[in-house]
Amino acid sequence: MTLAEIGIIGGSGLYKMEALKDVEEIEIETPFGSPSDAVIIGTLADTKVAFLARHGRNHTLLPSELPFCANIYAMKQLGVKYLISASAVGSLKAEVKPLDMVVPDQFIDRTKNRISTFFGEGIIAHIAFGDPICKNLAAVLADAIASLNLPDVTLHREGTYVCMEGPAFSTKAESNLYRSWGATIIGMTNLPEAKLAREAEIAYATLALVTDYDCWHPDHDNVTVEMVIGNLQRNGVNAQKVIQETVKRLSENPPQSDAHSALKYAILTNLANAP
Ligand code: ADE
Repeated sequence: MTLAEIGIIGGSGLYKMEALKDVEEIEIETPFGSPSDAVIIGTLADTKVAFLARHGRNHTLLPSELPFCANIYAMKQLGVKYLISASAVGSLKAEVKPLDMVVPDQFIDRTKNRISTFFGEGIIAHIAFGDPICKNLAAVLADAIASLNLPDVTLHREGTYVCMEGPAFSTKAESNLYRSWGATIIGMTNLPEAKLAREAEIAYATLALVTDYDCWHPDHDNVTVEMVIGNLQRNGVNAQKVIQETVKRLSENPPQSDAHSALKYAILTNLANAP
């Protein structure tokens, strides 16, 4: 079933896409349970897209409670080949300000309690993950951001995203440790998604929307939910513009992606001898 080749996962502050037309809501069941919410199929920039609110439309799921496998499986079932993941993040660098957008190219995994593979139970595969983000999809996304000239938004075309477990935000010692590693931004959700998308041979890129300076910055208060929410609304409006422009560009010129053949040399189990 191909209902949409482009998928969008909306994070905190992006619970729906106002510009979607001809909207249809689909409840999907997967072998990994139900996704975070119904998937919304609609038309954006004359192109069918599938939209899923990562934490549910009413924000009822903690990062550690997210059904990552079901979410990515649902996107695959719908025929998604390109997945854009919009996510609120904290900044670990002075030059990356709240309201800025980062298109990260690397991740550091600090999660402890996430299932981030479809494999196991007899089927063994190790996907290549040295470049966890699809470069070509990320380039389309970054070019779309740049073309919009959004006020108060600086685009950062690369960066390392630390994915932490949460739900509590980091301590100052942790925040400074990540800074000493050269990391750029911090969030709680994107790494399991990126791994599962790669296993599902879906090209994946992150649109990271900066809400705060975490807790390391001497001139800014420690991150609080109030602070995050304060910037979420503007980020959400900007993200919708970016996603619309990205979808337009993707439909006009769908990029090649190595992710689309990620399993070619990844499966170790000798399926030829399977009963
Ligand atoms: N999401 C938004 N801001 C964050 C922060 N400072 N740390 C982790 N996740 C975040």
